Amino acid sequence: MITEDLNLFLSNLNVFYRKLQNYHWNVKGEDFFTVHAKLEELYDDVNEQIDEIAEHILIIDGEPLGTMHDYLEIAQIQEAQNEKICSKKIFETILKDYNILIENATKVKEDADNEKKYATSALMDEYLQDFKKKVWMIRQMLMQ
Ligand SMILES: [Fe+2]
Repeated sequence: MITEDLNLFLSNLNVFYRKLQNYHWNVKGEDFFTVHAKLEELYDDVNEQIDEIAEHILIIDGEPLGTMHDYLEIAQIQEAQNEKICSKKIFETILKDYNILIENATKVKEDADNEKKYATSALMDEYLQDFKKKVWMIRQMLMQ
């Protein structure tokens, strides 16, 4: 069901938001300034996506999950530890997380197409473009 797919997506986005801000606070190393700023950019994007997905669930007459408890219960993305971390580890981890989000958005799109919910399907295209671009950029960065 699309609503369930979207709530899983929403849960992962919420945990990912907390994780990115955790990394923004805990990143250490010579590249601190650039990575600290980049992580803020990334979690700002996720914050907007959280709101958009929750409201999209409402638009299609579903009920968005709204508590951290609910999100943590089903999310596939795992929280970060509260500890200092270098940028390489951060980007290796969030590369995997973006791939989980790509899987979520793909599943939503496939189910939406099957149910002829084309607005939902079209919305997922934007997310897939965004996440795939980020995956490409992170891969480029990790290849140095
Ligand atoms: Fe900050």
